[in-house]
Amino acid sequence: MQEALIQDALRFRLPDAEPVDPSDIIEQAQVARRGSDVISRGLPLTIRGLRKSFGDHQVLRGIDLHIPAGQFVAIVGRSGCGKSTLLRLIAGLETIDAGTVSFGEEIRPEDVRVMFQEPRLLPWAKVLSNVEVGLGRDRASPDAQGRAEKALAEVGLEEKRGQWPAVLSGGQKQRVALARALVSDPRVLAFDEPLGALDALTRISMQRLLERVWRDQSFTAILVTHDVAEAVALADRVLVIEDGRIAHDVRIDIPRPRRRGSADLAALEGSILRDLLGAGDESTDI
Ligand SMILES: Nc1ncnc2c1ncn2[C@@H]1O[C@H](COP(=O)(O)OP(=O)(O)OP(=O)(O)O)[C@@H](O)[C@H]1O
Ligand SMILES: [Mg+2]
Repeated sequence: MQEALIQDALRFRLPDAEPVDPSDIIEQAQVARRGSDVISRGLPLTIRGLRKSFGDHQVLRGIDLHIPAGQFVAIVGRSGCGKSTLLRLIAGLETIDAGTVSFGEEIRPEDVRVMFQEPRLLPWAKVLSNVEVGLGRDRASPDAQGRAEKALAEVGLEEKRGQWPAVLSGGQKQRVALARALVSDPRVLAFDEPLGALDALTRISMQRLLERVWRDQSFTAILVTHDVAEAVALADRVLVIEDGRIAHDVRIDIPRPRRRGSADLAALEGSILRDLLGAGDESTDI
């Protein structure tokens, strides 16, 4: 089985690619086989000794992490523990104090995208133009409109292309924000509580949408969420941040599609919640 996985992975490697750790190849091939039969086009992410302070406040105190290409990772932790800071450092939106974040190769700015809790749409631009914004420098290219239309179709909102953001529901705005993030074909997509402001039913349908686009486009996904049930339903792996470090790294080896409310998901959710509550005063927000 391992030999087959290595052969799978090697078939997709370029002749001049840098040498890699065989365990990375096996992990990447396992991730790819779980999602589909195609090796991921996502980027691997390696973080070493990452530190970040704001004034005297040390927020991240040495994060070490390897995410194989195409993996879906969820990050949970108490409010203020540094989840958003970590995403911003990964996406290059914040300066690093010490340590490294690397993707195994040179990246273009559009390779790594972040989707935030608020959709952040431009109110003076119609839906299709809002999606085109995600193309960055490629916005002027002749295929920009076609790519934006494809991304809107991906999130099921083709018919809203000519609408103003103001007339969309909260869930529809988030779908436009997702299309804007997808339009540049990112290889790493980081989500900072993208579903936090949605009602429960819209949230579940958005979770399904996120999982489907991740499977279809096979980017590496990093989801920050307060919702542990969401984390175990969507992710291959859940990281718990505590005291500025990764305190728990939990594999979610439950086959997809996962059944929400199933006993095995509930057991994992319970154990991660206990880890979180164990991290401090139980009356504090997670
Ligand atoms: N630009 C900044 N200047 C000063 N302090 C900051 C800045 N950004 C974040 N912080 C502080 O760093 C800590 C971590 O913030 P961060 O936003 O990463 O937390 P979080 O885990 O995402 O929290 P939440 O779950 O509430 O979103 C907080 O104490 C916050 O006040
Ligand atoms: Mg945050």
